[in-house]
Amino acid sequence: MKAWSQDKSNNIVLIGFMGTGKSTVGPELAHRLGWEFIDTDRVIEEHEGRTIPQIFEEKDEAYFRVKETEAIEIVMSGVKQVISTGGGAVLKEYNCQKLSESGYVIALMADADTIISRVKKDTNRPLLQGNLEQRVYQMLEERKHAYQFADKQIDTAQRTIEDLVGIILESRNSDLKL
Ligand code: S3P
Repeated sequence: MKAWSQDKSNNIVLIGFMGTGKSTVGPELAHRLGWEFIDTDRVIEEHEGRTIPQIFEEKDEAYFRVKETEAIEIVMSGVKQVISTGGGAVLKEYNCQKLSESGYVIALMADADTIISRVKKDTNRPLLQGNLEQRVYQMLEERKHAYQFADKQIDTAQRTIEDLVGIILESRNSDLKL
């Protein structure tokens, strides 16, 4: 029998490329359920006492990825949380396992042009600095299979936050037979 702490109904996890809407949809979804909203990037920043761009600049991406796994381990031991993860959190198989075993995983998807228009004014994403369009197309290609382990994939491009919340809750209820 599974331990209570490893039950998919414990949490909802949002994965997806940068700019797919995780931190916009997440708080709304949490509000609807009366759950807590947690963004693993904010957990890392709090633990480190510095921002994501600072971590990338003062340390490096490898260091950030270690901190990201630690944040996932801590957060996934909790319950009744909507958890938004950084776009690259799914690059480690171990992280995917942790997210999946104690959470219903939703992959938010969007096409490259939608992503570019959503993130173009943002300077807080170190991996998108430089030629934004080229970076987005290249990373989407590199990561095209990374989000497929999700329990459900949803295209966010032409949908309102309210629609997305409804789709996520319906899908969770039906898949987990709640
Ligand atoms: C990253 C995505 C970012 C943040 C970091 C790295 C990535 O989070 O974790 O800049 O590798 O895709 P968002 O997806 O919330 O922008």
